[in-house]
Amino acid sequence: MTKVTMTVNGRAVSGEVEGRTLLSAFLREGLGLTGTHVGCDTSQCGACVVHVDGQPVKSCTVFASDVEGASVTTIEGMANPDGTLGRVQQAFQDHHGLQCGFCTPGMVMSAAALLAENPKPTEADVRHYLEGNICRCTGYHNIVKAVLAASGQDVSGLAAE
Ligand code: FES
Ligand code: FES
Repeated sequence: MTKVTMTVNGRAVSGEVEGRTLLSAFLREGLGLTGTHVGCDTSQCGACVVHVDGQPVKSCTVFASDVEGASVTTIEGMANPDGTLGRVQQAFQDHHGLQCGFCTPGMVMSAAALLAENPKPTEADVRHYLEGNICRCTGYHNIVKAVLAASGQDVSGLAAE
């Protein structure tokens, strides 16, 4: 076991981990941050996306010990300081960008990363960026609409799913 220390959602945390402990497991089981979902554990579904030093990362693909000293943001860190939904979260709610919700934390984290690097993406940009996030429910249309809405663009011309 080794000690790992990092900042998660602005809070300094530490814990004892095995060398093989995944970041996703550390967040969920070590810190109780179960908003990060694990759908596959094999780097395919994107449900586990978090930000590590501002970059989107599938947290099932990195060891907790590999992010020693890093700043990690999870879906729990995406709400506004007063507890209300953050901009991207609110857009998903407003535009029905979810059904069962299992993929949603990863979708929101990926979408936020996209908007940080490309504040006004096209529909094609959004679809391309979210290729690593799988949703088994929605058919993606309303997810794309939500991300475009979160960017401040007019989505009234896009048909609802
Ligand atoms: S749980 Fe990490 S990509 Fe599916
Ligand atoms: S809303 Fe169910 S998997 Fe995406």
